[in-house]
Amino acid sequence: MSGVRHLYVHLPFCASRCGYCDFVTVVGRHGQHQAYVDALLAELSLQRELLAEPLESVFLGGGTPTFTEPTELERLLGALPQALEVTVEANPETVTPKLASLLRESGVDRVSVGAQSFRPHLLDMLERRARPDDVRRAVYALRDANIDNISLDLIYGIPGQSAADLDADLSDALALEPEHISCYELEAKRGTRFTHAHGAELARQADAMESYFERVVRRVTAAGYRWYETANFCRSPSLADGRDLRSRHNLAYWRGRDYLGLGIGAVSTIDGRRWRNTSRLGAYLSALAAGERPPHEMEELPRDVRRSERVLLGLRLDEPLEVAGLESAVDWSAVERLERLGLVRREGDSAGTLTLTRRGRFLGGGVTADLLA
Ligand SMILES: C[S@@+](CC[C@H](N)C(=O)[O-])C[C@H]1O[C@@H](n2cnc3c(N)ncnc32)[C@H](O)[C@@H]1O
Ligand code: SF4
Repeated sequence: MSGVRHLYVHLPFCASRCGYCDFVTVVGRHGQHQAYVDALLAELSLQRELLAEPLESVFLGGGTPTFTEPTELERLLGALPQALEVTVEANPETVTPKLASLLRESGVDRVSVGAQSFRPHLLDMLERRARPDDVRRAVYALRDANIDNISLDLIYGIPGQSAADLDADLSDALALEPEHISCYELEAKRGTRFTHAHGAELARQADAMESYFERVVRRVTAAGYRWYETANFCRSPSLADGRDLRSRHNLAYWRGRDYLGLGIGAVSTIDGRRWRNTSRLGAYLSALAAGERPPHEMEELPRDVRRSERVLLGLRLDEPLEVAGLESAVDWSAVERLERLGLVRREGDSAGTLTLTRRGRFLGGGVTADLLA
């Protein structure tokens, strides 16, 4: 039987919908926040036996978890299982000193703030509500509430963003001394307003993005951060009182651990099966109000798919991937070729470990795709 140590909880409500976003979100609906939290707790009690408590990580993602009615957010946090790391995603403009204290007093020890950029014209392009000072205010409020693990999300590759804009964003983010930084290339998600308006421009600038990515890695690592995953950085232990500031929750995904997801659109992967809850709020609420599991799509993951996933995700990390048990997912002649090109490092005997070199990591997905059998 499974002993799942990682829990994801989806809070879909947002003040408005940003044009580039294709996450499962619902605008407004304050009147339904209470019913949604009731449903989440009902789903938790139906699935709780899958969990091995205390958990390693709980992650409240969105949507905008911090847009949820504060009394409901507090009720939810108070009812969730204990965990070694409890992260909440926050939009800057929602983080008041009061909310920061509520989070801290409810056991949250890590907050991931969606800054995206500090340039007003780029925030406008992304249709963000927060201004650069909102990001700073949010970080100060969280610090004042004794939250000592803050992550900032940044996006690069925004139409109209010059290399100097990117440098300035990185300087502004680093000046806040966050424990963790995630930096994503803006993706044109199918069917979004943004892709409709700017998709062609994103495709045109794709080549320039390689140098932007290198710039991000160079700047952030030079400031003393560990580049531990393709898009993720954390302060090195020597700058963090010896703490390991990698996200425990996201590490679990990249290491192929099982996780339970609650809420609309949430995905769970447990014992070789993956299921995704309905994204429809009404269907989710009514199933749980009737004491039933929400509608979901279930998929059995064949062993070869699981092995390939492990290789794909594991090579995103800077730690060596143990190949034992995954040999059949790897094209060994490709490994030899990539090793000669200085893109992959192989250590140990026939199984041993694989790691992408720094150059290999810059090429990222392309190298990993070559490696797969
Ligand atoms: C679940 S999202 C939303 C978190 C929060 N509601 C916010 O907007 O800040 C988490 C992160 O995914 C990233 N993201 C969302 N859409 C993206 C896209 N189209 N391309 C690249 N990154 C994206 C953003 O950096 C965002 O902070
Ligand atoms: S980017 Fe964040 S705030 Fe904007 S719609 Fe998506 S989840 Fe909501």
